[in-house]
Amino acid sequence: MDNKKEITICLGSSCFARGNKQTVKVINDYLKNNNLEKDVFYHGNHCFGKCDKGPFVKIGDVIYEDVNTENIIETLDKIFKRKK
Ligand code: FES
Repeated sequence: MDNKKEITICLGSSCFARGNKQTVKVINDYLKNNNLEKDVFYHGNHCFGKCDKGPFVKIGDVIYEDVNTENIIETLDKIFKRKK
């Protein structure tokens, strides 16, 4: 039941201002378009505490640094397309 994949996006002010503001929506659309909303627990979080390497998105146990609206799609594709 609880094998949902967890995606946590940093919504602290640094990450948010440097791109996560757009990335939030990109991930949301991705989950919707790929019918993944029920398989994923997607939520925002406070500053991860290492803003200089951000913006951050955490997927499962892995923290991705330097995320932008393009590389996040590649990352999501790698993780979710593989399962199908
Ligand atoms: S705002 Fe994202 S790590 Fe600080």
